[in-house]
Amino acid sequence: MKKLAVLVSGGGSNLQSIIEQTRSGILKDIAEVVLVISSNPSAYGLERAKKENIKAIALDYKNMDKNDYDKQLYNLIKDSDADLICLAGYLKKIPDVIVKEYKSRVLNIHPALLPKFGGKGMYGHFVHEAVVKAKEKKSGPTVHYVDENYDTGSIILQKEVSVYETDTPEDVAKRVLVQEHIIFPEAIKKVIENLK
Ligand code: GRF
Repeated sequence: MKKLAVLVSGGGSNLQSIIEQTRSGILKDIAEVVLVISSNPSAYGLERAKKENIKAIALDYKNMDKNDYDKQLYNLIKDSDADLICLAGYLKKIPDVIVKEYKSRVLNIHPALLPKFGGKGMYGHFVHEAVVKAKEKKSGPTVHYVDENYDTGSIILQKEVSVYETDTPEDVAKRVLVQEHIIFPEAIKKVIENLK
């Protein structure tokens, strides 16, 4: 059974989907979420973890010294004995020391078809606004390995969705999010199978 540390900054719907798949879906008897860490103390993702009796820690990024934050993040992950680190709507950069020590074991989900519409500042609604503005005919989520930059690690899974001329960025976000909840657990399963 592989241990997952899941990092969030917001609502945690991807975290919820991963938890559900470990309980009764494609990750049952394969993985378990042992720790949830949020960079934002008011993230609803923390509530989701607590409801599922999973250890949930808030690190207040905004009010902490960056070195302290990074050190606490590293120690919490090490102490959890996690095999994989899953960034599920986590908005901060992962310290290089973690990327190096957990090479090919840190996964991120991005709400666009990387390498398009990625990079620093491209998160949440900014992504979908750019997709609509560019009049793209398709979009969709990407799960990729995390390296030292934003959104540039090798791609594990992607899923295309259509973008219609009448779509608002919110329409695209909703359609992409549905597929995020499907491919993130699938990507975790695929990585675990490659770990063996
Ligand atoms: C998702 O759209 C994800 O692609 C992006 O942030 C959002 C997280 O949503 N990284 P949630 O917190 O998992 O609901």
